[in-house]
Amino acid sequence: TATALVDRFGRRVRYVRLSVTDRCDFRCVYCMSENMTFLPRDQVLTLEEIGRIASVFVELGVEKIRLTGGEPLVRRDLMELVDYIGTLGLKDFTMTTNGSQLPRFARPLKDAGLHRLNISLDSLDADKFRRITRNGDLNKVLAGLDAAQVAGFERIKLNTVIMRGRNDDEIPALVDFVKQRGIDISFIEEMPLGHISDHGRDETYCSSDEVQAIIERDHHLTPISQQTGGPSRYFALPDSPSRIGFISPHSHNFCGDCNRVRVTVEGRLLLCLGNEHSVDLRPVLRQYPSDNGPLRQAIIDAMDLKPERHHFTTDGEVQVVRFMNMTGG
Ligand code: GTP
Ligand code: 5AD
Ligand code: SF4
Repeated sequence: TATALVDRFGRRVRYVRLSVTDRCDFRCVYCMSENMTFLPRDQVLTLEEIGRIASVFVELGVEKIRLTGGEPLVRRDLMELVDYIGTLGLKDFTMTTNGSQLPRFARPLKDAGLHRLNISLDSLDADKFRRITRNGDLNKVLAGLDAAQVAGFERIKLNTVIMRGRNDDEIPALVDFVKQRGIDISFIEEMPLGHISDHGRDETYCSSDEVQAIIERDHHLTPISQQTGGPSRYFALPDSPSRIGFISPHSHNFCGDCNRVRVTVEGRLLLCLGNEHSVDLRPVLRQYPSDNGPLRQAIIDAMDLKPERHHFTTDGEVQVVRFMNMTGG
């Protein structure tokens, strides 16, 4: 391609995370406050506008697009956008979902050309799951996972945020579960986005090294050189195709080789998950409805704003006011 997206630190942007809604049918304790309010519809990009953003990024050399939310599959008519992005010729087209709508959508997503799925699942115990998601139904997610496995995605990965006292006792069970299913898992260190009054993040923080040590009581983990271009550090298990990943924003900073940016459903191009540096693409989209040139230029210019790294801490203080459901992770 003629123009590549490169920031001031020489990092090339090849991965874009597009949030298609801030809404969700769950209310995970680390993600949303209890009484979350959602964006009014006129502030939300249309699916066509999100499609334009995707196509311009692809022109600019992006090879990987992930759809996120909130929960992407609660956005009405989302399949129109998935069908469109499926035609853009990406190397990697994927989605992060809570899984609850997959019984209905797994097959159409696969048919539209989605390669992979990441499914958020923090507990295999229905009661704990209900507490973490503030009333989510574990059985729906398990049925969604079944549907995704039947549909035959290239890879399926679980995302699990480990929280002391909430689900840290389930680490061995989760590893056994992914082994049985032949799928992958990433264990995630919780990040301080948005103030959540009924969930004390300083008390629940659990480092990836602690999680890894627990797994290594039962399994030998071997680092894998082939990675996904995401933040996860993957390890192989003996005698199993499953990969075990660790996403460790606190304990193993990965900002040095960051290759990604994200766009919120309001059209804010966020240069980093952990900072507010952003450019508002919505006015550009709406001022030039049939010319992608200005959008393209706005995206190229934004690269100079990408900060070097996040400054998250684990002391329970919030560093980023925006909640995770606005960013899609
Ligand atoms: P793969 O491509 O499958 O390896 O996925 P991924 O790990 O890139 O994406 P996913 O949506 O599954 O994200 C998992 C976790 O990583 C979420 O909690 C994200 O918030 C977090 N994450 C992704 N990118 C970044 C990043 O640039 N910075 C930080 N701090 N966290 C990130
Ligand atoms: N810290 C870490 N991960 C989070 N996620 C949501 N909120 C947080 C947080 N505060 C995860 C979800 C999902 C992914 C998009 O981000 O579990 O898997
Ligand atoms: Fe919904 Fe995902 Fe946030 Fe949980 S983490 S409330 S499933 S958007």
